[in-house]
Amino acid sequence: MSIVKINVLTVPAEQRELLEQRFAARAGAVENSDGFEWFELLRPLEGTDEYLVYTRWRSEDDFQAWMNGPRKAAHEGGGEGGGERPKPAATGSTLWSFEVVQQAAPK
Ligand code: HEM
Repeated sequence: MSIVKINVLTVPAEQRELLEQRFAARAGAVENSDGFEWFELLRPLEGTDEYLVYTRWRSEDDFQAWMNGPRKAAHEGGGEGGGERPKPAATGSTLWSFEVVQQAAPK
């Protein structure tokens, strides 16, 4: 079964909008990658200032291929166009890895 990679981004309240705009501006950044299955940006409702960038992949190898290649383009700049890299909206990040052991979808 698939593997799930979740990037946990710490985002101060005043930076949320900027973070979401940056993700919106990169729509399409992973969709065509081999083995890519799902992406969700999860905004916290309560209890934490961490956003989850949920991604699901056919295999670890597919994820590693994206990490070592197309990821760089997906994380370039902030839409301001060239020059210095803009300051990240997130103040920290941690990568979590899981394998899918069970799943269900509505019938
Ligand atoms: C699980 C795989 C991923 C990893 C390991 C990862 C890595 C990171 C890291 C370390 C940051 C925070 C530092 C920075 O802003 O440069 C970040 C932010 C970001 N990532 Fe990713 N990312 C992943 C998935 C994605 C995907 C699939 C997209 C595109 C759809 C994406 C787009 C962005 C954007 C727009 C930011 C916001 C930059 C900011 O903080 O302003 N990331 N990612």
